[in-house]
Amino acid sequence: MFLSQWASTQFAPPYALQVDDIDPRGVPAHIGVVMDGNGRWAQKRGLARTDGHAAGEEALFDTVEGALELGVKWLTVYAFSTENWKRPPDEVRYLMRFNEGMLLRRRDELNERGVRIRFLGRRDWRVPRRLIRRMDEALELTAKNRTMTLTIAFNYGGRAEIVDAVKSLVESGVSARQVDEKAIRAHMYHADMPDPDLVVRTSGEYRISNFLLWELAYSELVFTPVLWPDFRREHLFDAVREFQHRDRRFGGLEA
Ligand code: FPP
Repeated sequence: MFLSQWASTQFAPPYALQVDDIDPRGVPAHIGVVMDGNGRWAQKRGLARTDGHAAGEEALFDTVEGALELGVKWLTVYAFSTENWKRPPDEVRYLMRFNEGMLLRRRDELNERGVRIRFLGRRDWRVPRRLIRRMDEALELTAKNRTMTLTIAFNYGGRAEIVDAVKSLVESGVSARQVDEKAIRAHMYHADMPDPDLVVRTSGEYRISNFLLWELAYSELVFTPVLWPDFRREHLFDAVREFQHRDRRFGGLEA
């Protein structure tokens, strides 16, 4: 069965899907997304940067729908970095509230879709207690779901994750001789999460900005000029098409 037939029986999207050319066997198991460009989208329209974040919510949930249609098992989105505390205090406050509200608004529909919600990042004193409560509620509500895992990287930094893994490894009492890639991986925030096959960054910036540094060693990277609030599942499908044309060798030779 073609993906489009499968998708239309499952979700009946409001338009004809153009995914016949996507090979269902070659859909990335794990896609990471750097949701960038909300501020520029708002500025272009004479709006406040925070309005751009608000508009990004629809982009995020259309992307989630698109990932479900494709049968993606893991979707990880970068929602707040360990460096984003440097943004103006009003914007940081807004983002804390916004994420809290988004979890409340969306957790039931995600749960009904079989999505497991998880978080990646440091739960330090700067993350408001109320937001942590919402995170725990979403975790608990969706813990048994397995259709797709939506991991929200929040107060996340790739370097911080490696530092925390090394700390935890040292605390576990291993000797230097026992330290290898497997041991480090076992101490990352979610040891069961597969590495991303594909990472998409929006808004025309060609950088990683501390996202999943350890995990993306062999990920395919796709950069698009689309600003995050304008991103929709069609753009995700385009990224997957591009992914399917890439030749992944993992350091070896072509098969
Ligand atoms: C990295 O760029 C991008 C992020 C950490 C994503 C930030 C996204 C938001 C704040 C909005 C989230 C939106 C929704 C809908 C949840 P950077 O700006 O941290 O790094 P750079 O300075 O290298 O570009």
